[in-house]
Amino acid sequence: MSVHIAAKKGEIAKTVLQPGDPRRARYIAENFLEEVKLVSETRSILYFTGLYKGKEISVGASGMGVPSIGIYSYELFTEFDVDTIIRIGTCGAYTDELKVFDVLNVNNAASESTYAKYAWEIEEEILPPPGHIFSLLNKTAENRSLNLIPTTIHTSDIFYRKSQEIPEIAKKYNCSAVEMEAFALFANAQYLGKNAATLLTVSDVIPTGEFISADQRESALKPMIELALEAAMN
Ligand code: HPA
Repeated sequence: MSVHIAAKKGEIAKTVLQPGDPRRARYIAENFLEEVKLVSETRSILYFTGLYKGKEISVGASGMGVPSIGIYSYELFTEFDVDTIIRIGTCGAYTDELKVFDVLNVNNAASESTYAKYAWEIEEEILPPPGHIFSLLNKTAENRSLNLIPTTIHTSDIFYRKSQEIPEIAKKYNCSAVEMEAFALFANAQYLGKNAATLLTVSDVIPTGEFISADQRESALKPMIELALEAAMN
């Protein structure tokens, strides 16, 4: 048992799909996995382990933001021997060249966050996804004829802000979209020598105000969830 995840050793699979929202973890477990077991519900951050096409997979939430994913991904990697975490989230597009429902594979996450520096003495403000899972996702998407877009994104600590301007760091690295977790996940995986990737479905396009409504979200995320599960089979 770790500090924030109540599962016993051996109850979490080598590969974990990690949405932000615990209810999305439950939705994935109930709709895509068989022989599902709830292995942790500490703080209502749900973790499930089950079988996808016979292969053991876990799915559990990260919560929102860098501190939260920093904690959960670290404990998964270090306490439960997890090899690979695939974050599956949503993002806001900074450009109308991206459309709602587009699926992105993050090839770089830029952030003003000091997490990587103060946790691991990683000085870079832009990090790639460590290990082979990023390219495995690209290959799996190609085999499924899914248009997966490699994208540089901004991991922000801020959801609400005074200025509507695109933040400096996003301009500096030409980030096309914004979310709140990938940078910390990549920092942990880099430091610990593990695999991590972030898939994002565009849920809103900031310059046009277009967004996916709450009742569209479940079906909107299906292609991304299936892609992550298929890649996790390898
Ligand atoms: N900002 C940050 N994170 C997000 C957004 C956003 O606009 N949309 C979805 N995740």
